[in-house]
Amino acid sequence: MNTIRDSALAPEGRLKITWAREHMPVLNSLAKEFSVDKPFRGLRVAICLHLEAKTAYMAKVIRDSGAEVTITGSNPLSTQDDVAAALAEDGITVHAWYGATAEEYNDHLHKTLQSKPHLLIDDGGDLVAMLHTSFREHLPQVLGGAEETTTGLHRLRAMAAEGALKIPMIAVNDAYCKHLFDNRYGTGQSVWEGIMRATNLVIAGKTVVVAGYGWCGKGVALRARGLGARVIVCEVDPIKAVEAVMDGHQVMPMAEAARVGDIFITVTGSRGAISGEHFPLMKNGAILCNAGHFDVEIDKKALEALAGPGQTVRRNVKAYTIGEKKIYLLAEGRLVNLAAADGHPAEIMDLSFALQVEALYYLYRNYGKLAPAVLPLPREVDEKVARRKLAAAGIAIDSLSAGQKDYLASWKPEGTV
Ligand code: ADE
Repeated sequence: MNTIRDSALAPEGRLKITWAREHMPVLNSLAKEFSVDKPFRGLRVAICLHLEAKTAYMAKVIRDSGAEVTITGSNPLSTQDDVAAALAEDGITVHAWYGATAEEYNDHLHKTLQSKPHLLIDDGGDLVAMLHTSFREHLPQVLGGAEETTTGLHRLRAMAAEGALKIPMIAVNDAYCKHLFDNRYGTGQSVWEGIMRATNLVIAGKTVVVAGYGWCGKGVALRARGLGARVIVCEVDPIKAVEAVMDGHQVMPMAEAARVGDIFITVTGSRGAISGEHFPLMKNGAILCNAGHFDVEIDKKALEALAGPGQTVRRNVKAYTIGEKKIYLLAEGRLVNLAAADGHPAEIMDLSFALQVEALYYLYRNYGKLAPAVLPLPREVDEKVARRKLAAAGIAIDSLSAGQKDYLASWKPEGTV
């Protein structure tokens, strides 16, 4: 039984999935191999990810590799009902719809875990947290899982530090082919797509404030500059702050940036990057949005305490009035790139989702040998995905000669024996 909004939307969803598939060559190459070998035969896989077309295609690849797949969304505003309908029609069990309330969101995760999974893919840590609280009796049958995001890894490491994590979890986010491309170029592009679709306003000449200079923040700032904006970075980590300065951005505390910014983007992974003290300082017309996993980075409660419930003035835009000034919040402070756009480009998710499928395969191959901990995906897997991406693009690279390998393996100065 599926929990979807409207099965009549399936044709539109199918078109979206086909478009994504045609731009995901690495995942296609894995699909080709795995559909013959069927490495996941007899296994149940539960997925909690942003339920849009690229995710749907990966779910199909896992299903075609032999697994029984149940999927839910990892954010109430990122599920696309047409994609959910297409997947359900295709024999994958779906529990997700756009605009789920907190209770519905939890219910969808709950239903997903009722499938008694052997393997999991999570984005943000909600599914794994629920497994360890409401479904502890299922833990012994779980081979392990894979986590997609920085935020999810924070939570898993907190669980591991308390001794609460009971299954091996692969840190897909830490793979190079994930964070270097997905976090930087994926977020860098999709956040601006979300902002531009939501507002239809110009970026050139504006002052953009980016809170958080991790890989996502770096990408958002880089693309802001490319669009002609002046960029201010707010950071708490002194090393990242120096990096932002060296990258040519202005760096200052949020209390100063609040007075001059036109567009604010939070990507810190923590709560309250923009809080009650900052809103009254902002200019009339300031636009606020979030690209961190949870809607906690902009303090909406504090904003509502100052300005009331706000008024929808455009799809994905709410206006809040403070005195004479209007401040605009995009996508309710949820991930603007997924709530107001379609998430990262397909060619980027190709890398991330090839890593996810490889992570499940690694868990399956190493069943019984892995500790209940947060574990890296081996470097060889990262390199395999990178090589396939290069091959798909028709790009060849050099390899080390025997002499170069010898040189790198020796420590004595050149010319000595
Ligand atoms: N599409 C599916 N998952 C995504 C993610 N974590 N970020 C951006 N786009 C996505």
